[in-house]
Order: sequence, then structure tokens, then C-alpha cells
Amino acid sequence: MDNELMIALITGSGGFIGSTLGERLLRDGWEVRGVDSLTSYYDRNQKLANLETALSHPRYSFTETSLKLANLKSLLNDVTVVFHLAAQPGVRGSWAHGFPEYVEQNISSTQLLLEACKDRPIEAFVYASSSSVYGNAHEVPTPVNHPLHPYSPYGVTKLSAELLCNAYAMNFNLPVRNLRFFTVYGPRQRPDMAIHRMIECALSERQFEIYGDGQQIRDFTYIDDVVNALVLAGSGIGLRNGETFNVAGGSSIQLLDLVKELKSQLSKPLQIAWSDGQPGDVQATGGDISRTSELLGWAPQVELSEGISRQIAWHMHRSRAN
Ligand code: UGA
Repeated sequence: MDNELMIALITGSGGFIGSTLGERLLRDGWEVRGVDSLTSYYDRNQKLANLETALSHPRYSFTETSLKLANLKSLLNDVTVVFHLAAQPGVRGSWAHGFPEYVEQNISSTQLLLEACKDRPIEAFVYASSSSVYGNAHEVPTPVNHPLHPYSPYGVTKLSAELLCNAYAMNFNLPVRNLRFFTVYGPRQRPDMAIHRMIECALSERQFEIYGDGQQIRDFTYIDDVVNALVLAGSGIGLRNGETFNVAGGSSIQLLDLVKELKSQLSKPLQIAWSDGQPGDVQATGGDISRTSELLGWAPQVELSEGISRQIAWHMHRSRAN
């Protein structure tokens, strides 16, 4: 494909992944249209800070809107690839009164976007799915054809959206690629996530709260590796519509060992507090990436210790700037 002609629509463009992807595409010569409603899930100032570089770029345009209120027809005009990253994220807030927001942001908004895309000559529709669609997998590393039994309402909504994408792929020939991300970390990570909290707690001498016994295992994936997978999926030709990939860093680690790694890299102590395990949190994640390597030529490049060191540098830089 000719990079000169590539126009991307990124939903969730102000978020952790969306903003990093946007900058990468701008560097690669794309025109980027960003959409984000800057929801109150976390501080909009962090999202505005994420967008600072992109907003000053002549090939970037930003629309602050929900997908429900957006003029999708005009936003999609001439778009080559849609990267659908907008979502209500986070596993633990999706119970009880949190749930309607997850349905609205993750399922209903995806359906509106798919409707708007279905008759357009889009070359790829890349959906940001999640490892949470597997639930407590009986096989780790988990292959993409593993049974899907989400363990949280969040996971249910991410899986519903994935299935919706596939229904549009099958009926309308929409070139959907589903990427199941495994716990993404790195500079700009969301403030509710474990590594972000650990670093901020250490820097401000507050206690980091461990949910449960700390023996849960996560396959952490570095942001630049995730962005590489998105770009490859967006340009992947010859893929089956609805093809699904795990995007996993290959660094499955117990939370307690992660705390040790953080402690060894931070020059400040990290105090721990213990609290109850959270409903919806699975025991272990780990992604089998053989299909991703085979069909997209993707493999993670950044090891956990290096990725953590880069994330710490980002937090330090941010705290000096404030
Ligand atoms: C993350 C993201 O938040 C989801 O949006 C994403 O879909 C999911 O990864 C995924 O893999 O698809 P999670 O694995 O829960 O979810 O990531 P973290 O928030 O970084 O939590 C990692 C572990 O640390 C969890 O077991 C959690 O219970 C624990 N944790 C987190 C704590 O013990 N204390 C905290 O303050 C935060």
C-alpha cells in the first residue's frame, strides 16, 4: 500500500494506546483523524497531554465527540484503515452500576461504527479486543481458538463487540482484524493500572494496594509492541476477514515478582498494603502468539525490565514537569 494515500481513523485517540498509535502513524506519513469523547474514566488532562504532540501536527485532526454523536459519515470519508480503540476500559469497575457504561461504550458504540463502515471501501477495520475474553483459561499460553468464557462483565462486553465485528465481517465483507491485547504497559499507561499505580505510589511515598494474595500472573505487553501489531494488522493484506490475534508480551510474571522488579529499579521504597481479591480478576494470563507471528510477522521486542525502566522514566519526567 502507498503510505501517501493512507488515512486512519482512530477512535479513543486521546487514550494510552490511541495516542501512541497516532504519533507512530504520523511519523510513518499517514493522515490521522482522531476521535475521543475524553470520558471521565480518568483525568481528561492526562488525555490532553497525550494528544499534545499529535495536535501540533499538520496531518492530525481531532474531534472531541462520542461515537453516538459523531458525524461518522464525514469522519470516515476516504478513510483507509479504522483503528477502533475507544472503550470503557478496566476489569474491576464493570460490575453493578458501572455496567451500563460498558454496554454503551463497548457494544453499542461499536455497532454504530460498524454500521457506518459496512458499505465503505475500508482496507482494514482493526478492533482492540482484550485477553479478558478468555476468562480463566485452562491453557496458558492461551491460543486464539481457546474457548471464550469471560470472567468479568468487562470481558463480556469486549467479547460481544468482537462477535459484532465478526458478524459485520461475514455479512458485509468488512476486513475486520481483532487484536486481543494482554495487559499493556509503558509511558502513558492508564492511571488505574497496576504498574502505573506502583510507580506513582513509590514516587509519592504512598502504599500500593495488592488485590488478593499477589500470586496472580499477567502477560505484560509493552506499548510500542502493541502499536507495531496494530500497524501490521492495519496493513496486513491477504488476511481472512475476522482474523483474530493475540498480542502478548511473553513476559508472564506474578504480581509479587513484578513488585520486586519495580523495587529494584526505583530508587525509592514501595510500601505494600493488602486488600481483598477483586471479582472479575482472573488468576493468570498468557498469550500464545504463534498465529500473530505467522500471519502478521509480529513478535514482541521489548522485555519487561526494559519496558518498566522506560515507564519509570516517563513518570519521573512528568512529575518534574508538574
Ligand atoms: C488490563 C486492562 O486494565 C484491561 O483494560 C485490559 O483489557 C486487560 O488488561 C487485558 O489484558 O485485556 P489487568 O490485567 O487487570 O487489566 O491489568 P492491571 O490493572 O495492570 O492489573 C494487573 C494485576 O494487578 C491484576 O491482577 C490486579 O488485580 C492487580 N492490581 C491492580 C492490584 O493488585 N492493585 C492495583 O491497584 C491494581
